[in-house]
Amino acid sequence: MNHAAHSPAPLAATDLNLDPYWMPFTHNRYFKTKRPMDRLLASAKGAYYTTVEGQQLFDCLSGLWCSSLGHGHPKIVEAVKRQLDIADYVPAFQVASPESFRLAERLADVAPADLNRVFFTNSGSEAVDTSLKIALAYHRLRGEASRTRFIGREKGYHGVGFGGISVGGMVANRKMFAPAMIPGVDHLPHTHNLKEMAFSRGQPAWGAHLADDLERIVALHDASTIAAVIVEPMQGSVGVVVPPVDYLNRLRAICDKHGILLIFDEVICGFGRMGDWFGAQAFGVVPDLITFAKCVNNGTVPMGGVIARQGIYDTFMTGPEHMVELFHGYTYSAHPLAVAAAHATLDILHEEEVPKRFGALGRQIEEAAHSLKGEPNVIDIRNCGAAAAVELSPLPGQPGLRGLRLFEEGLKRGMLLRFTGDTIAMAPPVVTTPDELHRMIEAVRASIRAVA
Ligand SMILES: Cc1ncc(COP(=O)(O)O)c(C=O)c1O
Repeated sequence: MNHAAHSPAPLAATDLNLDPYWMPFTHNRYFKTKRPMDRLLASAKGAYYTTVEGQQLFDCLSGLWCSSLGHGHPKIVEAVKRQLDIADYVPAFQVASPESFRLAERLADVAPADLNRVFFTNSGSEAVDTSLKIALAYHRLRGEASRTRFIGREKGYHGVGFGGISVGGMVANRKMFAPAMIPGVDHLPHTHNLKEMAFSRGQPAWGAHLADDLERIVALHDASTIAAVIVEPMQGSVGVVVPPVDYLNRLRAICDKHGILLIFDEVICGFGRMGDWFGAQAFGVVPDLITFAKCVNNGTVPMGGVIARQGIYDTFMTGPEHMVELFHGYTYSAHPLAVAAAHATLDILHEEEVPKRFGALGRQIEEAAHSLKGEPNVIDIRNCGAAAAVELSPLPGQPGLRGLRLFEEGLKRGMLLRFTGDTIAMAPPVVTTPDELHRMIEAVRASIRAVA
């Protein structure tokens, strides 16, 4: 389905002053010197963006992993517009809209096991920092105030708050801010090993033992000092690094043995992409806390949150009843527009069986992506749920440049790809047709050859 967006007003290369906007996670000087009209996105509809020049770009990563239903879904648009007439803003401290309670109930319904208490934030980064705070406070309330350490994982991405970069494992996001990292954080080894698992389809058979490193960390620091382990079930931002078979189970078992909370950062995995509601269900492992954001409302209005096991919530419900139990929250927690968009998104996820459809799309993506094996410089292809990544060897001495060039070749072929270093990731919207998938993969193939 090729949803043509309404034509944007034509824009000349010199019309815009590019200087004042400090672009996030962007090579500002490269962008502003180049003045790339093919990267100015004027509108979005279905699986396509339209540039200011009127070129259609297929949305290979569903925005930034967030617009999984495609853009401008009429039911979500309608819900947000309607909400603006009902209430544009409602505070979340000491008062609330009824819809925020209804949304929490619906999220609890689709979350695994007894994860049924929902705290709202406005982003994945805030969700992560919130989950770390909850973990610390939980142990303290239970009389285990010495449990202050967090264990993240190398190559992990948990957003850009100080908590998130501390437990995260992407060096570029950490090195500038090293003096301000939260203390007492250790990292599990990452599970990305080309020698052992390159070109695995789905979950690699090798690597479950890497979870046992948690025992080494426990032996080093003692369990009584460790609050929580945080991992992404499938690591998206680093380029679709897939958990080895049995790896997450082992982490769960070791956490249980030592009274450590297990946090799944499901900001990318949540709401269908893994072929189930959450990675937790897709991989059959129940964490203690889930962080979510992005697809909860199809990326329409910023929203994130944490879903906690009931026992964690109950631990906070002590002391005088008139007292605040958790001194934490945001002006825009459960913002009415975000809540309205989330209700509409959940309606669609249920009615259109989106998690199941992502499972089916994932099988097609696996076949298509692995057909790129043997193309020049391709050193790995990975896939999980409805996501895949192709890793290329870097140009000598210039890591990341081949990835950038591939991204630019993709644009020439009408594809908006996402690159991290020399890896490109693909996670197209659920509305992607077999023909669109074919065109995406063939454009990636041609682009890989162009940058050889
Ligand atoms: C696993 C994970 N956690 C946290 C975040 C941060 O989310 P946000 O950019 O909404 O702060 C992301 C964003 O990609 C993510 O993938």
